[in-house]
Amino acid sequence: MKEIKIETTLYMYESIDELPRDINSLMQKAIEARKQAYAPYSGFHVGAALLLDNGVVVTGNNQENASYPSGLCAERTAIYYAGSKYPQAKMLQLAISAGGENNPTHEPVPPCGACRQSIAEYEIKQKTSIEIYFMGTSGTVARSNSLQNLLPFIFDKSVL
Ligand code: THU
Repeated sequence: MKEIKIETTLYMYESIDELPRDINSLMQKAIEARKQAYAPYSGFHVGAALLLDNGVVVTGNNQENASYPSGLCAERTAIYYAGSKYPQAKMLQLAISAGGENNPTHEPVPPCGACRQSIAEYEIKQKTSIEIYFMGTSGTVARSNSLQNLLPFIFDKSVL
């Protein structure tokens, strides 16, 4: 038996003001998208903004449903739209902002496991990393240089 250690790296920015100008503007789009989330059941609003290499920014937010599992997360709303509308484009950067409608969050809110698995599929498809920035409603912003840092030891097509 041997032990395997997996290391991962994240970078932390004190606030949105510390972000490079282009990422700051992408995050502003995620925040705008968050404000339009349809989340009447959880009251938890999430917005995502995805920059493609054709210059297009695709945004998405969570869409809930009375049949709870039928709802979809913000990140997947955005990436699946991008994947369907611009199948040739590479996904470069994804900004995410999340928090309770009446309960602001100042810590970074990472994408859920299902979204990580879904984002990973496109990173593998396009053979280049997707940079991910995530935050609450304000405060610290975390950066992951690749989805791999958020989902080590991934299930992918190599095991099929
Ligand atoms: N949600 C997202 O949109 N993204 C995530 O990564 C985590 C959760 C949404 C799903 C649901 O509408 C609400 O947040 C509460 O879980």
